[in-house]
Amino acid sequence: MRFLITAGPTREPIDPVRYISNRSSGKMGYAIAEAAIEAGHEVVLISGPVNVDRPRGAAVISISTSDQLFDAVQRRIRDCDALVMCAAVADYKPAKTYKAKIKKSNENFSLELVPTRDILVSLPTKDRRYLVIGFAAETENIEANARKKLRDKNCDIIVANDVRVAMESDENEVGIFFRDGEMKKISRASKKIVARELIKICEKYFEKRLTKKNGDEFVL
Ligand code: CTP
Repeated sequence: MRFLITAGPTREPIDPVRYISNRSSGKMGYAIAEAAIEAGHEVVLISGPVNVDRPRGAAVISISTSDQLFDAVQRRIRDCDALVMCAAVADYKPAKTYKAKIKKSNENFSLELVPTRDILVSLPTKDRRYLVIGFAAETENIEANARKKLRDKNCDIIVANDVRVAMESDENEVGIFFRDGEMKKISRASKKIVARELIKICEKYFEKRLTKKNGDEFVL
């Protein structure tokens, strides 16, 4: 299979020296890229700024902002069999980027933020040849939020994790939600192990979808 995997945070510039970002380490996305290569798949990894070694054998595209990530995904999406949207995309960006460094004053300072474009929502919903695997980074109501994201973002699969466990850690614990209502849990393990399981699930789902007859329900 050809995997398009996004990983890490985005940075939304405020001025030449400051930005808005998040604590995503990129470790989960990189582990998925490594597991896919290990299983013999082709991998294009679109990565935000992280401190993780590049997976050997992956084509890596470096991005910084959510707009760059949006463009990179749009450009590559038609050439993949599965998009794994593991990146922690900023939900808001500054309404404008100051050209010069904002100088300090003793007054309060407000920054206007505008929503970024949602990459998953922007994908076509009909006649897709590729699988779409989204992630849900949650701190509460994990299952309900994950199921809502599965529907609202038109994903085939949503991988939900508690960011308090996953963020910056080498371990993860995830719930995997499918469109037919099925759910599978991967108990706490290294991101490497979780990644291998996820790749197996993608392979199985992709194969079933290729062989699925019209009207048949997909069951894992
Ligand atoms: N995502 C995206 N485009 C965005 C924001 C998020 O494609 N602008 C993707 C993420 O890569 C992830 C999924 O949407 O696969 C869910 O991201 P998450 O941060 O959990 O949810 P949000 O949509 O940002 O919603 P909220 O912050 O309210 O939980």
